[in-house]
Amino acid sequence: MTFSPQLETKLSKLLESYPKGRERAALIPMLMYTQDEVGYISKELAEEVARRCGVTTLQVEEVVGFYTMLRKKQMGKTHLQICTNISCLLTGGEELWNHACKKLGIGHNEVTADGTISLEEVECIGACSWAPAIQTNYDFHHHVTIEQLDKIIEDLRRVQ
Ligand code: FES
Repeated sequence: MTFSPQLETKLSKLLESYPKGRERAALIPMLMYTQDEVGYISKELAEEVARRCGVTTLQVEEVVGFYTMLRKKQMGKTHLQICTNISCLLTGGEELWNHACKKLGIGHNEVTADGTISLEEVECIGACSWAPAIQTNYDFHHHVTIEQLDKIIEDLRRVQ
């Protein structure tokens, strides 16, 4: 499996940051980096990462099955996560979730027809003090209102 030269450089640096024989410690960051480029952890990608980290494909699949941020199917170019856990639920998270579903015409772990945005209802994303919170790829948005969510979605559609 081939990756971009930029990703290959990043993966080399990652592996060099661990002592020889401890490549397995790079498993999760390597999955995250490669997922960012490929879009999801395909069977082929799991095999490639397993080879590079010196683990079995089954061990990679176990990790992918445990961590929800590792995805087994193609998501949108931007993955929009909306927290509906307790702090966010009490401050409008559920309204944000329902609004996003209606506006985008998709549900949990679904992708818009043009492939630009996918949606996920998530548990706490560690931003309870700034609830309701949402995440677009690696960016956090705090104290989000319906109007702000609309603007975030419109901006995402404009730059895709
Ligand atoms: S409950 Fe939503 S960020 Fe913690």
